[in-house]
Amino acid sequence: MENQVVIFDHPLISHKISILRDVNTGSKQFRELVSEIAMLMGYEALRDLPTEYVEVKTPITTTKSKMISGKKLAIVPILRAGLGMVEGILALIPTAKVGHIGLYRDEETLEPQEYYCKLPNDIANRLVIILDPMLATGGSAVAAVNFLKDRGCKNIKFMSLIAAPEGIKKLTEAHPDIQLYCGCIDEKLNENGYIVPGLGDAGDRIFGTK
Ligand code: PRP
Ligand code: URA
Repeated sequence: MENQVVIFDHPLISHKISILRDVNTGSKQFRELVSEIAMLMGYEALRDLPTEYVEVKTPITTTKSKMISGKKLAIVPILRAGLGMVEGILALIPTAKVGHIGLYRDEETLEPQEYYCKLPNDIANRLVIILDPMLATGGSAVAAVNFLKDRGCKNIKFMSLIAAPEGIKKLTEAHPDIQLYCGCIDEKLNENGYIVPGLGDAGDRIFGTK
């Protein structure tokens, strides 16, 4: 299957991302915005959830009406920054299971280093949505998808708020079968592997660690 890359061109998402970018936006507002944008993006990313007709008795009559079927969904934030997106998706699907993959980028090589992985036992049978606000070189995203495929996952989506062209290329070439959702595409990476113009270090801005 060919990659589907959805770039959101929506005033609400663009507006909120612009506030995220602002160096003067503090951690409290930053966290709230990351969660809100994740929810707005999730609304679209979940458009193809399977549905089934169920019988509903209204005050007027009995009818067949659509409801989500199966509900076999797992969301997997990449630690740390992906945690900021979890609440927004759980607001849409409160029963989703949540797995965690811990990766950090080596500052010298920019290669992702694994330090944690805890996933639902039946992850292979679930639609998995990986969450990470930043898709920069794409190294972390490719490693996370590798992890999940090694555990048998076949139906994987990846959501990022800001993506660099380099990261989109790397992820879509390595994994042509996953669906990718980006709040926006930025210009490029700088010599330190940061997205330009970007928003800086997402984890530090969410958790106030710098
Ligand atoms: C950030 C971000 C991604 C990764 C993206 O995490 O949240 O996981 O960098 O970069 P890449 O596309 O070049 O791999 P970081 O490694 O800074 O860890 P943190 O979330 O713990 O701060
Ligand atoms: N990770 C971040 O948090 N920000 C970037 O710009 C690149 C990687």
